[in-house]
Amino acid sequence: MSEIKTPTWTPDPHTLAKHEILKRYLKAWFPILGSRNRRVVYLDGFAGPGIYEDGSKGSPVIALECLIEHQLRTKLTKTEFVFIFIERDRKRKEILESVLEKQFPELPDNIKIHVINAEFAPTMNEILDDLEKYGAKLAPTFAFLDPFGYAGLPLETIKRMMSYRSCEVLINFNYKSINRFVQVSDTREKVFDELFGTKEWRKVPKKEDCS
Ligand SMILES: C[S@@+](CC[C@H](N)C(=O)[O-])C[C@H]1O[C@@H](n2cnc3c(N)ncnc32)[C@H](O)[C@@H]1O
Repeated sequence: MSEIKTPTWTPDPHTLAKHEILKRYLKAWFPILGSRNRRVVYLDGFAGPGIYEDGSKGSPVIALECLIEHQLRTKLTKTEFVFIFIERDRKRKEILESVLEKQFPELPDNIKIHVINAEFAPTMNEILDDLEKYGAKLAPTFAFLDPFGYAGLPLETIKRMMSYRSCEVLINFNYKSINRFVQVSDTREKVFDELFGTKEWRKVPKKEDCS
């Protein structure tokens, strides 16, 4: 999916499929990790506004519902569940906050929500810098990384997160737009260097070199 300018938009069929995968995974992840740890984190690095043009739910709402409506919820009251929603666009962040307030006016004490208006990678690196400064470790974290295209998703940051035990990432890896732009764009080289965590990809012949 390429960059959309309006604060909300209509979901594609692939968006609904993506949400179904997220839902099924979290239904298992929350009780498994939640029953073994005092704190777990769900992090939505590209959170979006929480609602679509047709009223469909966005990933932050889906994730919260997965936990709140879980049949095993009463067995998980001693674990703290921290939800971190990072969204770069101010308007979308505001919509997300109001959707969450309306949808979840009273949350159980062990569920905490943080909505952050910022970019995923620098924010994540700051969180990890702070933890590491105090010798602390990231709690078991499930990160859903769902950009529109491929920008703002440096492999180095993902590698850093994955170095912690029990951290998992679900990435919407938009290979079609990568393939399209990797062929034609010289101005996006830095974005691709970050995405792949290497400059090696620059050696791949461009289409015109192969003809
Ligand atoms: C595909 S949408 C997310 C949809 C949402 N995950 C869902 O499933 O409902 C991508 C979102 O990421 C935001 N975004 C783009 N670049 C970002 C960045 N570097 N850091 C954080 N958010 C970003 C966009 O404003 C947009 O709302």
